[in-house]
Amino acid sequence: MADIERIVILTGAGISAESGIDTFRSAGGLWEQHKVEDVATPEGFARDPDLVLGFYDMRREALSKVEPNDAHRALARLEREFAGEVLLVTQNVDDLHERGGSRDVLHMHGELKSALCSSCEVRSPWDAPMADRPPCPVCQATALRPDVVWFGEMPYQMDRIYSALLSADVFVSIGTSGAVYPAAGFVQEAKSAGVQTVELNLEPSEGTHHFAEARHGPASVLVPAWVDEVLGV
Ligand code: APR
Repeated sequence: MADIERIVILTGAGISAESGIDTFRSAGGLWEQHKVEDVATPEGFARDPDLVLGFYDMRREALSKVEPNDAHRALARLEREFAGEVLLVTQNVDDLHERGGSRDVLHMHGELKSALCSSCEVRSPWDAPMADRPPCPVCQATALRPDVVWFGEMPYQMDRIYSALLSADVFVSIGTSGAVYPAAGFVQEAKSAGVQTVELNLEPSEGTHHFAEARHGPASVLVPAWVDEVLGV
């Protein structure tokens, strides 16, 4: 692909689906197993912290049983071999991009392997249960919560994302339904700035009509092929 210097990539749960991590909105997905308002809102956490801490403990623990797939590894190869700039923004809270070799991952919805202290507000790397109310590693208060952005909370590093989006040559959306804002609006922001937009998804997303190009199929097939094209392999 000629004269591409800056790429912004957005990934969603679909890129981790073939690794065995449930997506949210497909049949049997996480939002069929649990009510969003109970486990992914500040109000739900205030109402029943044990339920919420247990939900994220279960998801964190499940990470140790899955592996990154060819789509994660292809994005890591792009980061290593592409001569220009790549910003990888993920909505996912899993660590499969990192374990697939990506070094600079922007988790706009936070991470399962991070703990946020409601007392000192410091984030700490975390890979243990929280249901037993461990003390904050920094201030020792028993006030840890999952460092995950819940509905009604502001996603992380939005300024950095928007400035990268508006100055990109290509915006690629991988494995996301386009159901949740602000991520679902990135394609329109990019398009309004004249950025080339591509959707790589198992099926047409809710925002597929905004994309200049859309390819449908499993990420483990589409993403390595797209990376080969970008690298001119
Ligand atoms: N390859 C590519 N895409 C896939 C695959 C696959 N193997 N399997 C599923 N998909 C697609 C689905 O078609 C769907 O469009 O991935 C998308 C997953 O959509 P969601 O389950 O809605 O997940 P996501 O878009 O990441 O959700 C966004 O919603 O609940 C919040 O914070 C949560 O970050 C999450 C956000």
